[in-house]
Amino acid sequence: MTLQQLLGIDLPIIQAPMAGSQGSALAVAVSNAGGLGSLPCAMLSIDAMRDELATIKKQTDKPHNVNFFCHQTPTPSAEREAAWRAALAPYYKEFGIDGNSIPAGPGRAAFSAEAADVLAEFKPAVVSFHFGLPSAELMARVRAWGAKILSSATTIEEAIWLEAHGVDAVIAQGLEAGGHRGIFCSEDLTTQVGTFALLPQIFERVKVPVIAAGGIANAKGVAAAMALGAAGVQIGTAYLLCPEALTSAVHRAALKSNAAAHTALTNVFSGRPARGIINRVMKELGPICAAAPAFPLATAAIAPLRAKAESQGSGDFSPLWCGQNARGCKEIPAAQLTRELVANL
Ligand SMILES: Cc1cc2nc3c(=O)[nH]c(=O)nc-3n(C[C@H](O)[C@H](O)[C@H](O)COP(=O)(O)O)c2cc1C
Repeated sequence: MTLQQLLGIDLPIIQAPMAGSQGSALAVAVSNAGGLGSLPCAMLSIDAMRDELATIKKQTDKPHNVNFFCHQTPTPSAEREAAWRAALAPYYKEFGIDGNSIPAGPGRAAFSAEAADVLAEFKPAVVSFHFGLPSAELMARVRAWGAKILSSATTIEEAIWLEAHGVDAVIAQGLEAGGHRGIFCSEDLTTQVGTFALLPQIFERVKVPVIAAGGIANAKGVAAAMALGAAGVQIGTAYLLCPEALTSAVHRAALKSNAAAHTALTNVFSGRPARGIINRVMKELGPICAAAPAFPLATAAIAPLRAKAESQGSGDFSPLWCGQNARGCKEIPAAQLTRELVANL
């Protein structure tokens, strides 16, 4: 069975869910163009998620994907939080921010029973996860309406684990990918390899379809991934300049500049490694900073700096998520980009 048959789509292109950078509009545009549009929910409240799903339902009857993070919620460490705030203190001073007034708390929500309740109202055709899979009970709830389940693997071990736990397809996320690494079997970043090293190895070891992700940004890249065994391709960065994306002004400017040629994995924005364009805070505190609290607790203390800097037109404290190939970013409608991506198949 092809990926198109499995997911009910015309083109083997999945628009990568990109929390904080897009919502229903991008998902609708890609689904209506025959690919699989995705709605990322990691940064949406339950009510916002319901509204976005209702909007999608009104605007397309094509299959779409709804995406969640499924990390374990960490126990906050007062010591680590204090170390993190101490590291950020010079910046609070520079921007006139009272560090003591900033509440701690998680910056992103994991998939939950409440989210599953809302999903059950809408019964999306596809649900994807990042950082492994939720509990067997939550998986069963998603399966109840026949949704196909996808999740990212960054190593062969993770791909085998995901297949054993019932995914319908594995997303092989290479090191080039923008945004958070889906890594969940270990914290050892030396296990992380490029897309075209990872993809054929995963393809040899699992029976479910493998979707390639990371650094693929044009029709030749899509065709090359398919030649290496991919059943489809998940593309994020290339969609970030589309008018339907919610990419911020500072993020768009960075993607269009030479800065986009310099990316690194950093934990300073969330606590987990994610690939973004190198900016001031990544250079000065990281890109990997031991003081950053566990995911997703690092976000709260840095958020006011981001807001203040952005209000002054600066992306110095913003997560400028971007893969290693920003050359495919085009300011064209997402439907047109989707069609261009399959031109060599
Ligand atoms: C701005 C941005 C935000 C992302 N947010 C998510 C997310 O919310 N959920 C998720 O599963 N993956 C997320 N990712 C990772 C993508 O699923 C995918 O692995 C990546 O975009 C593929 O590499 P590429 O960006 O080089 O195309 C994000 C990527 C980017 C660029």
